[in-house]
Amino acid sequence: MHSTITTFVFDVYGTLFDVHSVKEKADELFDGRGTEISDIWRRKQLEYSFLRQMMGNYEKFSDVTEDSLKYALNQLSISYSKKEVDSLLEQYISLRAYEEVQDVLSTLKENGKVLAVFSNGSRDMLEPLVEQAGLSNYFERIISVDDIKQYKPTPASYTSVLKVLGVKREEVLFMSSNGWDISGAKNFGFHTAWINRNHLPQEELGLAPDYTFDSLDAILDLK
Ligand code: LAC
Repeated sequence: MHSTITTFVFDVYGTLFDVHSVKEKADELFDGRGTEISDIWRRKQLEYSFLRQMMGNYEKFSDVTEDSLKYALNQLSISYSKKEVDSLLEQYISLRAYEEVQDVLSTLKENGKVLAVFSNGSRDMLEPLVEQAGLSNYFERIISVDDIKQYKPTPASYTSVLKVLGVKREEVLFMSSNGWDISGAKNFGFHTAWINRNHLPQEELGLAPDYTFDSLDAILDLK
């Protein structure tokens, strides 16, 4: 591992937590259509964050998450009540952490590493999510783009990590399962580990990750 790395910064959705763990609830509420709802929902959630950033029309991620869920249900011609939408949104603060997360975080912490979360998620989403998973004590800070109203992958968003943690970009190893996020972090100058959980092809952006792993376990083997 590069000798300058002191700080391990984790993306949240898809990296520490499985966004698709909402499928069970969506299946229950909408006749087994959880997979198609969840897939459109996640894609549109990200699309809205990019579009709002490009338009200069920022809304926090909890609002974008609600808007994108409504789009997904409308696209599938599924009628819904506010109660059903709220019930699905509540799932976002109880997403399942991937099985290796606890061990990886505790080992890094025991080895004296500085850990932080950096996410598009707004604080009203991130803090209860990390708390309910029993992971709060591992992180020095939970950093939300909502603090600066600049979505990833803008350089301004990654800059906030440096300011909050008081580190230089070469000290940071940034981990995400989202290829677009890894490209943005690489573009900014972080060391990057792409956690390619879904075995996707690398983004064609000319910003290859420094490391590519199937899960976070491999982070512990970096020397
Ligand atoms: C995050 C989502 C976008 O920032 O993966 O956590």
